[in-house]
Amino acid sequence: MTEMILALHGATTSLVIECPASGPPLWRYWGPRLADDFASGPALGDTRPTPSFSLDETLSFAVFPTFGLGWFGQSALIAHRAGQDFAQGFGAAEVEWLEAGKALRLSLVDDVAQIAVTIGLAMDGDVLTISTALTNRGDEPIDIGWLASATLPLPDDAALVRSYSGRHNGEFLLCEDVLGRNIWRKENRRGLTSHDAFPGGVVALPATSAHAGVAYGAQLAWSGNHVQSVEWLDDGRYAWQLGEWLAPGEMQLAGGETYATPDVIATCSLAGWAGVADNFHGAIRRLIHWPDGQMKPRPVHLNTWEGYYFDHDLPALLTLADAAAEVGIERFVLDDGWFLGRDDDSSSLGDWSVDPRKYPDGLGPLAHHVVAKGMEFGLWVEPEMINPNSDLFRAHPDWALQIAGRPMQTARNQLVLDLSRGEVCDYLFESIAKLLRDLPISYLKWDHNRDLVAAGGSDGRARYHAQILAAYALFDRFRAAFPDVEIEACAGGGGRIDAGIVQRTHRFWTSDCIDAVSRITMQRGFLQFMPPEIMGSHIGTAPVHSTGRTQQLDFRAAVALQGHFGVEFDLVKLGADDRARLGQWIRFYKDWRHLLHGQIWQGDAGDNMLWHAAGSAEEWILIVYRMQPMQYRHMPPVRLPFVRLDTHYQIDRIGPDAPSESRSFDGSWLCKAGMPVPPMMAECAAIYHGKRL
Ligand code: DGJ
Repeated sequence: MTEMILALHGATTSLVIECPASGPPLWRYWGPRLADDFASGPALGDTRPTPSFSLDETLSFAVFPTFGLGWFGQSALIAHRAGQDFAQGFGAAEVEWLEAGKALRLSLVDDVAQIAVTIGLAMDGDVLTISTALTNRGDEPIDIGWLASATLPLPDDAALVRSYSGRHNGEFLLCEDVLGRNIWRKENRRGLTSHDAFPGGVVALPATSAHAGVAYGAQLAWSGNHVQSVEWLDDGRYAWQLGEWLAPGEMQLAGGETYATPDVIATCSLAGWAGVADNFHGAIRRLIHWPDGQMKPRPVHLNTWEGYYFDHDLPALLTLADAAAEVGIERFVLDDGWFLGRDDDSSSLGDWSVDPRKYPDGLGPLAHHVVAKGMEFGLWVEPEMINPNSDLFRAHPDWALQIAGRPMQTARNQLVLDLSRGEVCDYLFESIAKLLRDLPISYLKWDHNRDLVAAGGSDGRARYHAQILAAYALFDRFRAAFPDVEIEACAGGGGRIDAGIVQRTHRFWTSDCIDAVSRITMQRGFLQFMPPEIMGSHIGTAPVHSTGRTQQLDFRAAVALQGHFGVEFDLVKLGADDRARLGQWIRFYKDWRHLLHGQIWQGDAGDNMLWHAAGSAEEWILIVYRMQPMQYRHMPPVRLPFVRLDTHYQIDRIGPDAPSESRSFDGSWLCKAGMPVPPMMAECAAIYHGKRL
């Protein structure tokens, strides 16, 4: 028997695995597309004489590399059975093609450690989905400390990791780290996706730029703790590993039980990190479950939070709804503050009934008024949380995650409910479902405003993993019972943005920071992984509550146009001119959202200018932002790498603040030489509509 070569070909990339006759599958290649009939040459082992002072049978980089039997890199598995079976190894895999050339399953068995592992690999376009599961085949329980979702091969010329860090009010801040011989590693142990560490990244080769060159991307479809690392290997390649970070003892499998890890969505692009983003957008779009199976045009939001906070006054909210309908708002979202005793953030989470002091006849009068005005009505909830000062906590103090003998640590005055208890989820479902049944609510903004700590269950064991699965099940229960209700995922802004939660939600609240200058950077980070139509982006007030800076309405609107557009301030206080202008921007968004939520491209134009384009190569909207005052005497032209070279474009300046201007350009000129743009003040934008002639 000789080795078998398995190849998954995408549109422009290929992935190749070698299955030796008697050893586990090995990574051979992931990169630009190979010929259909490529020949991989001799087996890896035949080209690798044993290096000095090494094992006589040196192991190569396996698809599922494990510790203890001669692999010295990061292990895909750390496990033991009461101290036994600490080293795992596998022979030849059973290979099952699920779709010829596109999807396969590798089944690995370790008869000594009595475990079985399956790895699913599926290529769609140039996007790979990797699913890994481990089953305990022994009678005794096995403790899993780490099971990687995927260990991916990166080429030896991988040079740079682009990952995203941050905090509340400052999500998606780009970190660029040069790869070397030391391991690059990022861990999140906050119990949810986190503001600090997006569970994914991009790896670029030395010559790769935003729009050209080979780049790799990966993201973990998981809303809890996570780890990713990139490690240099003995043959010069790098191993990129992603998976769930497991707390001590929380993943113990009894005989016959299986742990299925979260999926990894990975891609290789020949078009730089913008190409990686584009591939991710396609993959994420395929994961979203829209009511009726199709996304409707994304409605303009009005969210009450920054305009009203906890100060809910029914007559004022009715007036706000009138003003909102007049300017063209399509969805009115009533944020925090509507439920029993909720006058500030010190109490009431868990008591999901309407506060009769603020709403003597319930939410009906407001909800029906909103709907009568032609808008959808949305409601804020934070189901996973409980305030110690709540009727729910007084009745069920044991429902909060906690460790006996340890203090209950609050954050924003709140604790986290143990969703792995069925009665907790039943209570949450019933109390919120009652509102959904009784009122015309077609949207939930589902918040989660703290990290998990001391997340123990009643048996004293860690519940981080169980909490995420139970939260997913609760989301799924609402989706099944109320399939027309869309859900927005929020976690103090962007603390729960990932490819796991996106499978049960329809929008993300990107950040509580609505400063347009700060948002540009955060939105760039978001758009590296997620498509624009699910990126909540609002026009906030000025000065901005989170930063104190002031920006013009036109600039705030031009930044909000990048995503799912909304408004978050008290419209009623706007003067007549500003209100009219806001209405123009809302009209503008509605006119162009079919392009704004298409394919997107982003770039830097020099001299502190950034650009964002959306639509298709045939027809697009281009927004050029000047972030800082001009430093050049003349504005540099903006090169547009996304246009078709073989055609001409009609380009019109558009927007409520735009002078009339219409010109035609050759595509190759736009791409190579660039489009001239006029001088602009700092924090201003110019918007263009380009169409193929
Ligand atoms: C945090 C969210 O990010 C805000 O938009 C708002 O909903 C508050 N929570 C309400 O408490």
